[in-house]
Amino acid sequence: MTSPAARHFLAIPDFTREELLRTLELAAAMKRGEYPERPLAGKTLAMIFTKSSTRTRVSFEVGTYQLGGHALFLSSRDIQLGRGEPIRDTARVLSRFVDGIMIRTFDHRDPEELARYGSVPVINGLTDLLHPCQIMADLMTIRENLGDDLSGLKVAWVGDGNNMANSWLNAAYRLGFELRLAYPPGYAPDASILDRARGTARIVVTHDPREAVEGADVVNTDVWASMGQEEESAQRERDFAGFRVDDTLMASASDRSIFLHCLPAHRGEEVSEEVLEGPRSRVWDEAENRLHVQKAIMARLMGGAE
Ligand code: CP
Ligand code: NVA
Repeated sequence: MTSPAARHFLAIPDFTREELLRTLELAAAMKRGEYPERPLAGKTLAMIFTKSSTRTRVSFEVGTYQLGGHALFLSSRDIQLGRGEPIRDTARVLSRFVDGIMIRTFDHRDPEELARYGSVPVINGLTDLLHPCQIMADLMTIRENLGDDLSGLKVAWVGDGNNMANSWLNAAYRLGFELRLAYPPGYAPDASILDRARGTARIVVTHDPREAVEGADVVNTDVWASMGQEEESAQRERDFAGFRVDDTLMASASDRSIFLHCLPAHRGEEVSEEVLEGPRSRVWDEAENRLHVQKAIMARLMGGAE
């Protein structure tokens, strides 16, 4: 039923620090065009989506193709999962056909169950709890701009304590940089993920965005209402007043600071037009880097790359 051989990427800590860094190196080599191998030749990735996506869908599909493989887009609207077939049955059936599964969904227990019952690698393409592939792209973008040594960085998160914030905490836990999280009361990140990160990294939590951004090398935000929280949008707009990343807030970041946003962005809500389109913004490189990091993750998990 389970395969001890299959390794998964459901959360940043599924990789050791060394594995994370090697994956980022491999992604950078791929981006430079220095990786001619096709480790997914003859292999297929199943991509299950119960939520919308532009970047994740396209980058996984294109990335699989570039590594010599084939990707299947499986919307939950079309497969039996959407009509109630259990995850554990889907896992065992898909494992007979494909060589890896990427899933984007709501409940984080779903990819965990896929991994438990399937026998092929499972990659988390976003859950309500975590978005690890995005953070890998963010780390790659940071290294391109601020150098390979991530340990001395000050990273600011301004906004919701959501799947992105939780994954930043996991990255700080593994890599040891300073992370400052500013969120409104009632929007804290996951308590156990926060506690674990505090064991290995300097973590500052505050309700004051200026405190988080002061002297930061990276300023990062995300939508105030994530997928599945659309009905809370009006309340959240009120609760997040004062949490917009604009030029005034960016002025207190370090001189070399960059701005990141996983996208899609809501201009005039969590980020101003000036910052998103401004000289410190690296959001388009960040989006592109999804392709490279995910290829590196797939090459490791499905293609035997080290
Ligand atoms: N950042 C991100 O995951 O984008 P999509 O929702 O378009 O996949
Ligand atoms: N926090 C956002 C990220 C989208 C890529 C969401 O979950 O909708």
